Amino acid sequence: MDTKELQEKIIKLKKEKDICILAHAYQSQDIWEVADYIGDSYGLSIQAGKAPQNNVLMCGVRFMAETMKTLNPEKHVFLANPLASCPMALQMTRNMVEKLREENPGYAVVAYINTTADLKCAVDVVVTSSSAVKILKNMPQKKILFIPDCNLGRWVQKQCPDKEFKFFKGGCPTHLRNTAEDVAYARSLHPGALLLVHPECRPEVTELADYAGSTTGIMNYAKNSPEKEFIIGTENSIVQHLQFECPDKKFYPLSVETVCPNMRATTLPDVYAALTGEGGEEIHLPEEVMEGSVKPIQKMIELGG
Ligand code: 13P
Ligand code: SF4
Repeated sequence: MDTKELQEKIIKLKKEKDICILAHAYQSQDIWEVADYIGDSYGLSIQAGKAPQNNVLMCGVRFMAETMKTLNPEKHVFLANPLASCPMALQMTRNMVEKLREENPGYAVVAYINTTADLKCAVDVVVTSSSAVKILKNMPQKKILFIPDCNLGRWVQKQCPDKEFKFFKGGCPTHLRNTAEDVAYARSLHPGALLLVHPECRPEVTELADYAGSTTGIMNYAKNSPEKEFIIGTENSIVQHLQFECPDKKFYPLSVETVCPNMRATTLPDVYAALTGEGGEEIHLPEEVMEGSVKPIQKMIELGG
């Protein structure tokens, strides 16, 4: 069977089984082509609720499927590859957050969506890279404990100068691979190109960028820009997707190292196996976790617009 034949089977099966396929933008091109919706973490969270189907198949990482389940308890939510799990989401536990809360009275706890559903039970509001600045500006609290990604946190802090921030020392192992030296080298190879990066990158990289934003933000910026060449500082799948979407422009990776093994774990055969019931995993969360984590996620949607 070739890719096209497998895609045709998937499209037929998802209709028969009333399944909406959601794909994070970092998924491969062959998965994009069978997805009902592709987006960044914020867009995916909103989209699952809008989907008319009773079942959702998440092609991404575990915390995304957990968020879908929390927001849509009546739906059956599946993760296409059960091994796909964001390492940043495993850097902190609910107990760690509860301890930090005790040590930092008066601070509102803001958690990046890249955290477990269990941890979210102990926080005030969840944010994504595309919604964080807006949410922070809409929050009345001045003292913010931002977890777990300190690089995203520092990028948000710069845009919210009236707030007082404390950070945890977490971050994305994939985006952390990008350095200021990579920027200098990429710019020497492509002197006319704009640098577009994800705010999970180190501050030394984000400060050198022409634009920093979520995966969807980066893609929209490149598509709408009159410029023709771009260095991309996020998961390298985006370089390929942009090249497909904008054949008249040129896209270069900031570093060949910017590859997330977890986001790359899901394959088209995994999607097929999840649809036939031979693979994938249905997400089940304890009632207490569903009830505890939905509040800060709903707050994200309320404040993020
Ligand atoms: P966004 O999709 O919100 O840009 O986040 C990127 C990411 O690393 C997801 O794991
Ligand atoms: Fe997690 Fe980083 Fe991979 Fe996103 S790119 S899933 S934050 S490790």
